[in-house]
Amino acid sequence: MIIFILNWFFILFLLCIFQVNLVTTTHLPNYRFTRTNNNDLYTCLSSLLPLTVRTIYPCSTIANQNNFQCKCVHFNITNLSAIRGGRFSHSPAVIVYVTDSSDVQNVLACAANLNYVVNALSGGHSYEGYGLGSTYNNIIINMEGINYIKINQHDRTGTFGAGTRLGPIYYEAYQSDNYTINAGSCPWVGLAGHALGGGYGLLSRLHGLLSDNVLEMKAVNAQGELLTINETHEPDLYWALRGGGGGSFVIVTEFKIRLVKAPLLTTQYSLVWYPNASKLVIQRYQLLMFNNTIFNLSNDLFVSMTVNHLEITISITYFGIELDVLKRTVALLLETLPTPNITKIHSEDWLTFVYDGLGLGNSNVDHRYLLFKNLTMPTYCFKAKHLFYDKPISDHGLDQFLNRIALGIGELYITFSPWDGHIHTIPIDKTAFPHRRYKFGIQLMIYCNDTNSEKKQMKWLNEIYSTIYHDSTKHSYINYIDRDVPSWMDYYYNTHQQRLHNLKYLYDKNNRFYFEKTIK
Ligand SMILES: Cc1cc2nc3c(=O)[nH]c(=O)nc-3n(C[C@H](O)[C@H](O)[C@H](O)COP(=O)(O)OP(=O)(O)OC[C@H]3O[C@@H](n4cnc5c(N)ncnc54)[C@H](O)[C@@H]3O)c2cc1C
Ligand SMILES: *[C@@H]1O[C@H](CO)[C@@H](O)[C@H](O)[C@H]1NC(C)=O
Ligand SMILES: *[C@@H]1O[C@H](CO)[C@@H](O)[C@H](O)[C@H]1NC(C)=O
Ligand SMILES: *[C@@H]1O[C@H](CO)[C@@H](O)[C@H](O)[C@H]1NC(C)=O
Ligand SMILES: *[C@@H]1O[C@H](CO)[C@@H](O)[C@H](O)[C@H]1NC(C)=O
Ligand SMILES: *[C@@H]1O[C@H](CO)[C@@H](O)[C@H](O)[C@H]1NC(C)=O
Ligand SMILES: *[C@@H]1O[C@H](CO)[C@@H](O)[C@H](O)[C@H]1NC(C)=O
Ligand SMILES: *[C@@H]1O[C@H](CO)[C@@H](O)[C@H](O)[C@H]1NC(C)=O
Ligand SMILES: *[C@@H]1O[C@H](CO)[C@@H](O)[C@H](O)[C@H]1NC(C)=O
Ligand SMILES: *[C@@H]1O[C@H](CO)[C@@H](O)[C@H](O)[C@H]1NC(C)=O
Ligand SMILES: *[C@@H]1O[C@H](CO)[C@@H](O)[C@H](O)[C@H]1NC(C)=O
Repeated sequence: MIIFILNWFFILFLLCIFQVNLVTTTHLPNYRFTRTNNNDLYTCLSSLLPLTVRTIYPCSTIANQNNFQCKCVHFNITNLSAIRGGRFSHSPAVIVYVTDSSDVQNVLACAANLNYVVNALSGGHSYEGYGLGSTYNNIIINMEGINYIKINQHDRTGTFGAGTRLGPIYYEAYQSDNYTINAGSCPWVGLAGHALGGGYGLLSRLHGLLSDNVLEMKAVNAQGELLTINETHEPDLYWALRGGGGGSFVIVTEFKIRLVKAPLLTTQYSLVWYPNASKLVIQRYQLLMFNNTIFNLSNDLFVSMTVNHLEITISITYFGIELDVLKRTVALLLETLPTPNITKIHSEDWLTFVYDGLGLGNSNVDHRYLLFKNLTMPTYCFKAKHLFYDKPISDHGLDQFLNRIALGIGELYITFSPWDGHIHTIPIDKTAFPHRRYKFGIQLMIYCNDTNSEKKQMKWLNEIYSTIYHDSTKHSYINYIDRDVPSWMDYYYNTHQQRLHNLKYLYDKNNRFYFEKTIK
């Protein structure tokens, strides 16, 4: 195995470049195959959509397989290369590659008339592949063609097609006077799913979640109407779509987002220890999070920690130019810790920092390279679990946690990330995102590459998860969605579940946008 230095970005790097093939743990409900063909749907779509809109049907459900407009294929998920993280346990009725919001409206009109379930697919990064929905014979609206980027320097906003990915936005915004968005780090993640569920990243302690900066959206509802959604127009939807998660209420076609100034300089300290120091390091990290008489972290610091059975890393990222602030924090942290086995520090401009995380920063590749989706990657299976904390993990919990990790069954990454700072300053009821009092979150991720190791690793993951579950808040972040959670409304939405439930009934009472973990 390659020995490497784990840092925050290395984790993202891994997560980003590997096309993800998910671990299947439970079976889908047994949907009845109520239709023998989709001819009515085909007739409806071909009469309403322009000829240029690509529609792909599985051959088995089409009577005239040679029709010029309608492409028919033998569906196989591995063909749908734009989908990373896709679990494909069912075959859709059609995939429609829309080009603007009126295409979306037309698809919804057919779906409403003929009673089809509709699911939107933007960046395809749902951990459980929910961009593909979860029912047999659904309609998938592929949004990737709606990917325009307009930076409006005069009012410091950006207007983006909902099918845009984060990477191109980072690039384009930075070209305009060094603006950026406060979003996640993986450039292939889709803006739509990301922003609708919250959107967390390295700038979240400084500027909040991406959804906190969403000013307006355009969206198509279950009846096929195009809505403008902002603070004064459709205020309920404006609330629900900022943190309530993708896929439940409407199909968003455009986002208007307040831009933020990119940091002038980004500096990262990485401190690495070999595992027998783990307990001490984790305790110190927890102290850092909870005892603000010792540590009073300003919002331009982001301190995260990654743990596995080989090493433990604390990364202190600083978005300022007074490096003394950073040095003081590192010194405080090191006061009671053993000397790290490896210490690294590096400073970069924001855009280089973002792309360095992908291992592309140092190559001579134009950043626009990331606009291409044709990267060929090995296929890995992947499963993640996540929990929020408002108190430290107990001593006893930590011992069990570390004992389990030490078993070292395959590839595992555990990340502790801070969820305080600016996120806490926004009133809980202002948006649908309900987790604004928690200090940190822990994400556990496994990668596996064959079905034998998959079973063992899943068991291992669940065991580690159960050692830290008890001390957690038993709440989690919707964008790290996990199909194995039984009571997901409480788990993801906490005090907002009733209001979201009411709005779901109001805006989509026929469950046109159904998927397994939709708001119910
Ligand atoms: C490699 C990787 C890295 C990640 N890094 C981060 C991170 O740093 N920070 C973070 O917060 N999250 C991160 N995530 C999680 C990510 O934010 C979510 O998976 C997000 O939902 C992905 O959005 P998408 O458009 O790519 O996904 P999709 O799979 O296309 O969609 C996700 C959900 O939203 C729905 N949806 C999609 N488009 C629309 C639309 N236009 N209107 C309405 N509903 C829609 C889908 O139906 C689906 O239910 C990461 C995920 C991966 C796989
Ligand atoms: C899907 O396609 C891949 C590659 O073309 C192939 O290896 C795999 O067996 C196919 N799966 C099914 C179910 O046909
Ligand atoms: C999927 O791949 C197979 C073999 O590689 C090919 O025959 C088929 O046309 C592809 N389907 C799509 C939708 O691209
Ligand atoms: C933008 O960032 C670059 C470094 O990437 C820096 O050289 C330049 O001075 C910055 N411009 C502004 C307006 O801040
Ligand atoms: C909301 O959108 C409507 C319709 O475009 C517009 O008239 C109104 O000014 C917007 N409100 C805000 C707060 O932007
Ligand atoms: C870690 O192990 C090494 C030897 O393997 C030992 O020298 C060192 O003291 C240990 N550190 C801690 C914090 O236990
Ligand atoms: C925080 O640290 C201070 C100084 O070590 C200590 O006196 C105090 O009890 C601690 N507070 C908590 C909540 O642990
Ligand atoms: C932490 O810093 C903030 C802002 O600098 C200050 O208002 C607060 O009193 C400090 N808290 C402690 C416990 O020092
Ligand atoms: C890591 O650092 C500890 C503490 O300084 C030391 O005891 C240990 O030998 C180091 N381990 C390695 C592999 O260098
Ligand atoms: C992706 O496509 C671009 C442009 O066509 C090409 O330059 C690049 O080499 C391709 N990348 C891969 C990994 O195939
Ligand atoms: C599969 O995973 C195992 C354990 O993580 C690793 O040792 C092995 O090299 C991997 N095989 C391939 C083909 O990637």
